[in-house]
Amino acid sequence: MASIAVYSVKGGVGKTTFAVNLAWCSAQISRRKTLLWDLDPANGAGFLLGIDPGKKHTAHSVFADGSDPAKLIQHSRYPGLDLLPADESLRTLDRQLDKLGKKKRLTKLVERLAKDYDRIIFDCPPVLNAVSTQVMRAANVVIVPLPPSPLSARAFETVVEEVRGAGKGHPPILPVLSMIDMRRSLHRDARAANPTWPVVPLASAIEQCAVERQPVGAFAPKSPAARAFAQLWTAIERKLASK
Ligand SMILES: Nc1ncnc2c1ncn2[C@@H]1O[C@H](COP(=O)(O)OP(=O)(O)O)[C@@H](O)[C@H]1O
Ligand SMILES: [Mg+2]
Repeated sequence: MASIAVYSVKGGVGKTTFAVNLAWCSAQISRRKTLLWDLDPANGAGFLLGIDPGKKHTAHSVFADGSDPAKLIQHSRYPGLDLLPADESLRTLDRQLDKLGKKKRLTKLVERLAKDYDRIIFDCPPVLNAVSTQVMRAANVVIVPLPPSPLSARAFETVVEEVRGAGKGHPPILPVLSMIDMRRSLHRDARAANPTWPVVPLASAIEQCAVERQPVGAFAPKSPAARAFAQLWTAIERKLASK
């Protein structure tokens, strides 16, 4: 089992889009039993998978003593892809974790889920608190979507510090250029400055994910966008294998 966090301290950079599309690649291309774990109270991952939120706000209860995460897990319409959904109860998850005082609560839950899943993918909220600290401890690799702007470059520095804060043996970080439009000079410069980073293009097919409520590979399998996520997924698997 390996766990993959999609994380940034910035919102709107493509985290949820990445998490959902990569989870789909994991289940449908690599045929791995995959859990998409939404930690963002905005609950975007469930929306993009076409799963409607439940009425009860119980997502936080996974972190309570003695709880069974399996109770909250939902199957998606794609074989091998399940969702642990988020809801508003996660808004205070950092305080809940602080109060619990268990720094490895998330790591323990991941270990427990390892018997049922080959890959766990976290869709993270854009925060720097107990939630991100626990995710950095639990993750085997951290994917950081970076739109080409000086602001996201600054956010990347903060992420690197947060990941290194997890101490010796912290997970490797894979920065990914997100929403790249090669017609724009700033974007071409960002690409030229980071030639080895994977790229996810700015694409209307990716925007359409929120309309179709499906990963791009499911409704536009031949699109360059679907290919980009498949390639990114291969790069992540390679990174995990080289550890
Ligand atoms: N590569 C892309 N091309 C076009 N639109 C994108 C792309 N990546 C993300 N978006 C759009 O940008 C917005 C923010 O993406 P989202 O994944 O919700 O970011 P985050 O989870 O980091 O807040 C969404 O409307 C999404 O559809
Ligand atoms: Mg999001």
